[in-house]
Amino acid sequence: MRVVVAVTGASGIDYAVTLLKTLGEEKTLIVSEHGRRLIEIESALSLDEIGAMANVRYDDNDLEAAISSGSNEFDAMVIVPCSMSTLSKVACGIADTLITRTASVALKEDRKFILVPRETPLSKIHIDNMSKLKDAGAVILPAMPAFYTKPKTIQDMVNFITGKIMESLGLDHQLYEKWE
Ligand SMILES: Cc1cc2nc3c(=O)[nH]c(=O)nc-3n(C[C@H](O)[C@H](O)[C@H](O)COP(=O)(O)O)c2cc1C
Repeated sequence: MRVVVAVTGASGIDYAVTLLKTLGEEKTLIVSEHGRRLIEIESALSLDEIGAMANVRYDDNDLEAAISSGSNEFDAMVIVPCSMSTLSKVACGIADTLITRTASVALKEDRKFILVPRETPLSKIHIDNMSKLKDAGAVILPAMPAFYTKPKTIQDMVNFITGKIMESLGLDHQLYEKWE
C-alpha cells in the first residue's frame, strides 16, 4: 500500500513517528512549515531523522511533486497530526500547499483519506468542517486515546491512536491489545 503521511502544526508528532515506524509499505512524507516547528518543540527526533523513516520526502511548497497529480496512484493519505487550519482549508477545497493539494486529490479520486485532528475544545466551525469532510468521504480519527487498555506510558497512548489509524487503513498491527 502506498501511503502519504502529512504532518501539520498540531500537537502530537509522536503519532506520525509511530505510524512511519509501523507502516512497512511504501511511504511518502510531507511536513508543513508549522509541522517542522512542532517537531522542534515536541520531538526528540530531528526532521531529517523522521524524514529518513519515509521512502520519499517532499517539501510542502513543492506543488510540482508527483503526488499532487490525480494520475499518481497513491492508495491512502493520512494527515497526522492534523491542525484545524489544514482541516478547514481541505474542507473548503483550498489547495495552496502540497499537503492541501494532495488531500484534494485524495478526495476527488476517492482514495482512503484519514485526518487525525487535535484541538480542544472544538468550535462550531471546526465541527462543521469535520462534518463536511466526513460527508465528502474522509475518515475523521481524532487523537483521543482510550484508557481501557490501561496505558502505562505516553507511548502506550500513542500506540492506541496509531493502531486505530492502521486499522482504518486495513493493515494489521501489534500496537495494542484489542478489546476481547
Ligand atoms: C506549540 C504549538 C502547538 C499547537 N498545537 C495545535 C493543535 O494541537 N491543534 C491545532 O489545530 N493547532 C495547533 N497549533 C497552531 C497551528 O500550528 C497553526 O494554526 C498553524 O497555522 C497550522 O499550520 P499548518 O496546518 O499549515 O501546519 C499549535 C501551534 C503551536 C506553536
